[in-house]
Amino acid sequence: MKLRFGSLLALAAALAVAAAAQFPGMHLSVAQRARLQAQQRATAAGHRYMMDILHIRSLRPGADGFNPKAPNYQNTDEATANPYPHLPNPLISNRGIRITTPAQWWRLRRPEIEQDFDRDVYGYVPRNVPKVSWILLRTTHAVHGGIPTVTRHLIGHVDNSSDPAIPVNIPLTVTVPADAGGPVPVLMHLSFGFSPAAMKAFVAMLKAHHVPVPPPPKGPSWQQQLLNADWGYAVLTPTKFQADNGAGLRRGIIGLVNHGHYRRPEQWGALRAWAWGASRALDYLETDPQVNAHEVAIEGLSRLGKAALVTMAYDQRFAIGLIGSSGKGGATLFRRHYGEEMGNLAGAGEYHWFAGNFIQFDGPRNAGDLPVDSHELIAMCAPRPIFISYGAPHVEGTWVDSRGSFMAAVAAGPVYRLLGKRGLETDQMPPLGVALLKGDIGWRRSHGGHTDLPNWPDFMQFAGKYIHAPPRKS
Ligand code: GCU
Repeated sequence: MKLRFGSLLALAAALAVAAAAQFPGMHLSVAQRARLQAQQRATAAGHRYMMDILHIRSLRPGADGFNPKAPNYQNTDEATANPYPHLPNPLISNRGIRITTPAQWWRLRRPEIEQDFDRDVYGYVPRNVPKVSWILLRTTHAVHGGIPTVTRHLIGHVDNSSDPAIPVNIPLTVTVPADAGGPVPVLMHLSFGFSPAAMKAFVAMLKAHHVPVPPPPKGPSWQQQLLNADWGYAVLTPTKFQADNGAGLRRGIIGLVNHGHYRRPEQWGALRAWAWGASRALDYLETDPQVNAHEVAIEGLSRLGKAALVTMAYDQRFAIGLIGSSGKGGATLFRRHYGEEMGNLAGAGEYHWFAGNFIQFDGPRNAGDLPVDSHELIAMCAPRPIFISYGAPHVEGTWVDSRGSFMAAVAAGPVYRLLGKRGLETDQMPPLGVALLKGDIGWRRSHGGHTDLPNWPDFMQFAGKYIHAPPRKS
C-alpha cells in the first residue's frame, strides 16, 4: 500500500470524494458519491473526445502501483528500466547543429526545446489569456517563533468579462518578517490546500488502510526555517484556478479561455496552467515593496513538484526551485520503464496535466519518440540553481523513480556547464540523507516518505549560496 502514497496524498485535495475512488469501501454521502460519479463521467468523456480528435483508438495501460501480484505491476528492475537509453542531446539542435556557445543556447536551442515541450508535453499557453488584477483583502499580524510577521491575503481576479459564467480567482497569501531590514527573499509554496480538519481525516484514513505516514521531521516547520533565515513565504493553491481533474478542463483558466469548450490538443494542460498562476503571483510580488522579486523561489511536492519545475523552467524570473518528489511529468525521465508509466500519465486520471498531444506518446508512438525529456526541462532552468528532492524508496515507494530523476539531473549538467555553472558534479547517486550541494543542481533523498520536509534544511543551505536576505532590524 505504501507504494502510492503520492496519489493518496493528492487525492485528498478533492477530499473524500476523490479518495473514494481509491478506497471503494470509504464512506461517502449520497451527494458526494453523485458528485464523484458525475466528475468521473465527464473526465472519461473529455478523454475520449481528445483520443477521437487525435484519431487514437487505444492507449497502452499504465502500471499498477499497488498490487505486486498484478500482471502490470510497476517495474522496479533496473535491468529493464532503460528501454530507450539514448536521450535527446540538449546541446545538439533538432537540425543537427552542435551548440557550443551560450549565445547559441539562448537563441537557437533553448527556444527549440521550449517549443517541443509546448507542442508535445505541457501545451501552449493561449494568446488570449485574460488579465489578472490583484486585490488586497486584508492584512494580519502574528508572531512565529518570536519573529513578528505581516501576512497579506490577496485575490488575483481574472477578467472573465468574455464569459461571466466561468469565474476564476487566484487566492494568495504573502507572509514577511515585520521588522525586515529591506525587501526579503520569498519562497512560493504550491499548496494542496488541505484544511487542518481534512488533513486529519485523511491521515486517519491512510492509517486505517495501513499506509505508513511518517511523523513530520523534528525541528522548525518550513515556514519557521524561512523566517529564521529572514525570508518570507507565499502560499498559492493551484487547484483554486485550475481543477486537478479532466472534468475541470472546461472550467478554470483553461475553460475560461475556451468559453467552456474542450481545449484543442496543442493547448495547455493543468501543469502549465498552474505554472501560469505562479507567474501571475510573481507579477504581484514584483509590486510588493517588502519583497525582493529577484529572489523568489518556487517549491512544490509530487504533482505540485512537477508544477514547480514547469514554473521554474518557463518563467526565468524565478531565482531558485525546490522540486519535491516530482516523478514522471516532473524531473524523472519519461523514457524510463520504472514505477509510474506513460500509460498512467496519458490515461483519463492524469492526462489533464498535459497537452492533449502528449497522449499520442502512449498510443501510436512511445516515450522514445518524444523530442525532449525531463533533463531538458531541468536544463531550461539553467543557469539558475535548482534543488531536486526525494524520500527513501523503501518508505516513499518506487512510483516516483528517483533514480530516473537523478539521471535527468546528470544529463542537464552540460547545459549548466555551457552557461558557466556546474551541474551535479557527479554521476554517482549519493546514499540516503547525503546532499549534493556543491554544484548549481542540488540533490538529496531523505530517509523519509513522500515529502520534501526532511530535505528542507539542506535546501536552505543550498539556497544560502545564492540568496542573501537583509538582516532583521531588531
Ligand atoms: C500519483 C501520480 C503521480 C503524482 C502523485 C501525486 O501517484 O501518479 O504522478 O506525482 O500522484 O501528485 O501525489
